[in-house]
Amino acid sequence: MRSPWYKKLSLVFGHRPPLNWLLLCLVSVFVLIALLGSSSSNAFDSVSSSVRSDIYSNYRRLKEQALSDYVELKNLGTDHVKDLGLCGKERENYVPCYNVSANLLAGLKDGEEFDRHCEVSREQQHCLVRSPKDYKTPLTWPSGRDVVWSGNVKLSKDQFLSSGSMTKRLMLLEENQISFHSDDGMIIDGVKDYSHQIAEMIGLGSDSEFREAGVRNVLDIGCGFGSFGAHLLSLNLMAVCMSAYELTGSQVQLALERGLPAIIGNFISRQLPFPSLSYDMVHCAQCGIFWDDKDGAFLIEVDRVLKPGGYFVLTSPKSRQQESSAGTKKRSISAPFEEFTQNLCWNLLEQQEETFIWQKTTDAQCHVSRKQSSIPLCNGDDDKSYYRPIAQCISGTTNKRWSPIQNRSSGSLSSSELEVHGIKPEDFSEDMEFWRSALRNYWSLLTPLIFSDHPKRPGDEDPMPPYNMVRNVMDMSAHYGGLNAALLEARKSVWVMNVVPISECNTLPVILDQGFAGVLHNWCEPFPTYPRTYDMLHAKGLLSHLATERCSMVDLVLEMDRILRPEGWVIISDKIGPIERARTLVTQLRWEARVIDLQNGSDQRLLLCQKPFVRK
Ligand SMILES: *[C@@H]1O[C@H](CO)[C@@H](O)[C@H](O)[C@H]1NC(C)=O
Ligand SMILES: *[C@@H]1O[C@H](CO)[C@@H](O)[C@H](O)[C@H]1NC(C)=O
Ligand SMILES: *[C@@H]1O[C@H](CO)[C@@H](O)[C@H](O)[C@H]1NC(C)=O
Repeated sequence: MRSPWYKKLSLVFGHRPPLNWLLLCLVSVFVLIALLGSSSSNAFDSVSSSVRSDIYSNYRRLKEQALSDYVELKNLGTDHVKDLGLCGKERENYVPCYNVSANLLAGLKDGEEFDRHCEVSREQQHCLVRSPKDYKTPLTWPSGRDVVWSGNVKLSKDQFLSSGSMTKRLMLLEENQISFHSDDGMIIDGVKDYSHQIAEMIGLGSDSEFREAGVRNVLDIGCGFGSFGAHLLSLNLMAVCMSAYELTGSQVQLALERGLPAIIGNFISRQLPFPSLSYDMVHCAQCGIFWDDKDGAFLIEVDRVLKPGGYFVLTSPKSRQQESSAGTKKRSISAPFEEFTQNLCWNLLEQQEETFIWQKTTDAQCHVSRKQSSIPLCNGDDDKSYYRPIAQCISGTTNKRWSPIQNRSSGSLSSSELEVHGIKPEDFSEDMEFWRSALRNYWSLLTPLIFSDHPKRPGDEDPMPPYNMVRNVMDMSAHYGGLNAALLEARKSVWVMNVVPISECNTLPVILDQGFAGVLHNWCEPFPTYPRTYDMLHAKGLLSHLATERCSMVDLVLEMDRILRPEGWVIISDKIGPIERARTLVTQLRWEARVIDLQNGSDQRLLLCQKPFVRK
C-alpha cells in the first residue's frame, strides 16, 4: 500500500513535526514557486506563447494545489482524523444544525429555535454516525415502498399505535416491519380518490392528466409519510416531501426510508432553498403550518416558489369547524387568509369539503394593476435564495422564466426554453451524451467485485442485483441534471436529488423545469436529511471546486458517510490530486475504495467506494 502524502512528509522530517514547521515549509514552497514563476516569465520570453501558457497554467496549478494542501493539512493537524471512532448511540438519528437546546442557549426564540442553525451547533466532535443495532438493508422497490423495517427509523410507542390522518397512516405488520397500507387497500384508495378529486377541481378528467396540464413537480409540505407523493410518483410526477425536523416519527425519515423523495425544511422565518418560480404545485394536507401567521409571510414564500399558473392545494379540517360554527353551507377559510390570497393575485379555483385550490396568476402585471395590494414587488434578482429571511414582497415577476405552466412543451425542453436558461441547445445535448456514456460505466462498476484483486473493468456487463440496489441517488453537484436524465433514459427506477452547490452557477431552474427534484446547498454545511437516507452519492468535480472554497474535506466526507446507508455506493469523479486525497480519507472511514483510470488520456479519475455494513 502507498503511504498517504502526509506520512511521506513526516518521513522527510524523521518524525511528525509540529504544525508550525509544516506551515513554514509550505510557505517556503510558495515563495519558491513564486520565484520560479517570475524568473521563468523572463527566461522564456522567446519561447512560443503556447509553451509559456502551459508553464503558467502549470504554475497556477501548483499554487492552487499547495493552497488546498495547506487547508487540508491544517484540518488534518487539528482533527486527528486517524482516530475517527463511532459516535455514541444517542447520535444514531443525528441531524446536524437542528439542536433546539443549543439554539435556545444561543438566545434564539419565537420558533427560531426549531429552525436550521448550522452556525450555532458547529461540529467539534468528529465521529461516524452508527446504525441502530437491528438495522437492515431496506427492501427493494416496489415492496419496499410500502413496507419498511421498523428498526431502521425512530418512532415512539404511541406513533406505532395511532392510525393518523389519511396521509399519515402506518400499521405494524409484524414485529419488525411497518406497512403503509392495509391489506384491504383502503388507505391507498383514499389517496387515489383524493388525487382524483384534486385533478377534477383544477378541471381535469382524471389525475393521469396532471402532466399534460403542465404539473410536473409538486412540493408536498408536511407530507405525512409520503403516501400522496408515492401515488403522484406512480403518475410520473416528481413530488418532494418537505417537513420540519422531528426527533421521532419523522415524516422525512419515513418517506426516505420508503425510497420517496424528501428533505427537511421549515416555514419559520427563512426562505426555502429553491429559486423563485420552481414548483407547479404546492400541497399541504393538515401540514401544521399556520398560514395566516406573520402577516401572510409563509403564503408569500409559497407564492415565490410557485410558477405562474401553478396551484396551491390546501386540505384543512379547520375550515370544517368554522362551517359548523357558522352554520352556513359554504365552508370558508379565515378572513385574513382570504385577503392574503387576493393580495397575492391568487384565484380561488374551487373548494370541496376540506380542500381548497388556488391558482397563482399568469399575469406578471397583476400586482401592479391592483392598487389596493399591500404587498410590494421585490426589486432585484432573487434566484440565489438560500435560507435568506423571507421578504415581504412579491418576487419573480420580472424574471425571464416567468411563463405559465400551461404553456410548456410536453416532453424534453425545447431550444427556446433552454435559451431562457441561457443554455445553448448543443451544449445541453453534448452534456447529455457525456452522461449517457458515464452512466454505462458507473452502473457496470456497482459490484463488490470491483474491490477484488481482479476488478471488473468499466463498461463490462452490468452486475446482477442486489449489489446495485439503488432507489435514490444524490448528485452532489448536478449541473444540468444530466445524470438524472441519463438514469431515466436507461429506465432505471431511481430518483435523483439534484444538488446545486450555491457557489456554482445556479442551474437549479433548468433541473426543476425538466421535472426533476433539486435543491440549493452549501457543501461546507451538513445536508438537511437524516442519516442513512441515500443509496448512492455522486460528485463530479465537487472536490476541486470545494478546495477553492476552503472548507474541510474531512467534514464533507464525514457528512457523506452520515447520509449514506450501509452498503451504499459513492462515485467521485475528479482530477487525480483530489481523488488521491479523498481515497486516503475514506480508507480511514473504513470504506472500500478503488481508484479507476478510465484510460482516455485525461487526468480525471473515478473513486468508487462502498460504505461497509458493519465497521470492523
Ligand atoms: C445539543 O446542544 C447541547 C447544548 O450545547 C449539547 O449538550 C448536546 O450534546 C447537543 N446535542 C447533540 C445531539 O449534539
Ligand atoms: C400561453 O398560451 C396561450 C394560448 O396558446 C397564449 O394565448 C398566451 O399568450 C401564452 N402565454 C405566454 C406568456 O406565452
Ligand atoms: C475522460 O473521461 C473523463 C471522465 O469521464 C472526462 O471528464 C474527460 O473529459 C475525458 N477526457 C477525454 C480526453 O476524453
